[in-house]
Amino acid sequence: VASSNNKPQAFLQCLSSISKVIYSPINSSYFSVLDFSIQNLRFSKPETPKPIAIITPIHVSQIQVAIICSRTHGSLQIRTRSGGHDFEGLSYVAHHPFIILDLINLRSISIDVKNNTAWVQSGATVGELYYKIAEKSRSLAFPAGVCPSVGIGGFVSGGGYGYLLRKYGLAVDNVLDAYLVDANGEVHDRESMGEDLFWAIRGGGGGSFGIVVAWKLRLVLVPETVTICISNKTVKDGAIDLIYEWQYVADKLDENLYLGILLNGGNISSEGGKPNPTASFISLFLGKANKLLSILNKTFPQLGVTKKDCTQTSWIESALIVINGSPTNNSLRTLLNRKSQSVGSFKIKSDYVQQPMPLDAIKGIWERLKSQDVKATTLDIVPYGGKMCKIFDFETPFPHRAGNLYMIGYLVGWENQSKEIEERHLSWIREIYNYMTPFVSKFPRAAYVNYRDLDIGTNTEYGKTSHDQASIWGFKYFDKNFNRLVHVKTKVDPYDFFRHEQSIPILSPP
Ligand code: FDA
Repeated sequence: VASSNNKPQAFLQCLSSISKVIYSPINSSYFSVLDFSIQNLRFSKPETPKPIAIITPIHVSQIQVAIICSRTHGSLQIRTRSGGHDFEGLSYVAHHPFIILDLINLRSISIDVKNNTAWVQSGATVGELYYKIAEKSRSLAFPAGVCPSVGIGGFVSGGGYGYLLRKYGLAVDNVLDAYLVDANGEVHDRESMGEDLFWAIRGGGGGSFGIVVAWKLRLVLVPETVTICISNKTVKDGAIDLIYEWQYVADKLDENLYLGILLNGGNISSEGGKPNPTASFISLFLGKANKLLSILNKTFPQLGVTKKDCTQTSWIESALIVINGSPTNNSLRTLLNRKSQSVGSFKIKSDYVQQPMPLDAIKGIWERLKSQDVKATTLDIVPYGGKMCKIFDFETPFPHRAGNLYMIGYLVGWENQSKEIEERHLSWIREIYNYMTPFVSKFPRAAYVNYRDLDIGTNTEYGKTSHDQASIWGFKYFDKNFNRLVHVKTKVDPYDFFRHEQSIPILSPP
């Protein structure tokens, strides 16, 4: 199907039937459409490659036209964007001639309260989904994350962590059906795509298998009253010992209870110029405060959580408290904001911990959080146990299940766009990641695909990527599931049309 003709003009001509939803650089709104969903300013510099066109379909048939035209016009790559949160900018930057298929207008959500399900188009955000659920019911929820602007398209494609994971697993564990446009421009549901492809799109990472237009999700039950408690600890409050002891407790707690840690450091938490890292222990309990306090006082009394640290509320309000950091000013409409709260440039890395870390290792982390060289650093520590350990590692492509105590997301952010500041922040995160090597999973050192990190390996920039080369990053994200993903990819997209720096490769060219 591919031809060598990749002239942008001919391509745009091919798209003339959908010209109303196309923005090329000659349109005055090209840059505002491009920039609107760029969440990481690291990939929004004047020198960052820009797309030949941005297509914002309002109907699935326009996606089909875009795919057929890009295939006819040679090596044009398609980058699909839902919420634009990809940590490496892969949904809106490519180093080949490319277009962006921006699903921002495909974001309808329909909630079926009777059957506890929802059809959600990929361009909707996590916050928009929460909002629509809350409009219909306060006893239904979806196990998604705490950042409302994240797009459903990318979030569900890669896994989808949130505070309900110990009770209900990840977003991918709650997908019932999907509509996908494949590399031939054909539309499929679960039945017509077949179980292999349906398996692959539930955690095999976005941008490899086709364009998922909509997902049918299972909504989960939450009690009318939940309790959220936040207790902030500094080194003076014994934070380091508490983190050490938490490792022996968090994965064994009642599955109705999530007790995670956010470690914040860097200059952002400075007092009088000196960084003073904080460990916030965040509990979300699907039940009332008294029961939560009795569990915590029995299992983890050292934390000293009291009623004043806790708020009893509905599940949706608890999500707002986590988003806003406090119970005040919690208009549900905050959930509809499509811009991320973390404005600026950032870089993430991830790890899985399978044995408790020694106390000295935690002291080493703390020292690094006190670094004056960096602006904002966070370690998001997510406890396992509960449902996460009951789902087999082969049920979805997402393999990080039983055997893990917790996941760590390392995040560093900065505002200034200078090369020197960027290098300093990148060095910080790479150094702490190296430091952590002895304490985390090995062979492979596992990573979470939605915390996209090109440092762990990439495909060949030009030409075919060998299986061995892609295995370097592929086994980290998917472990043994990587081989099955490669087989599915080879079957459904043998020309490797949907590709990017870490897309699933094909076995060999047809
Ligand atoms: P984006 O549009 O950038 O897409 C991400 C990838 O998926 C790209 O490769 C893209 O091409 C592909 N893609 C997008 N839509 C697609 C579609 N419809 N069909 C096929 N491929 C598609 N994660 C988590 O598990 N829990 C959390 O709480 C958070 N919180 C969070 C906060 C912030 C501020 C950021 C920046 C990120 C997170 N994440 C997260 C990570 C997040 O899950 C991850 O970045 C998702 O891929 C983002 O999905 P978007 O649709 O927003 O991204």
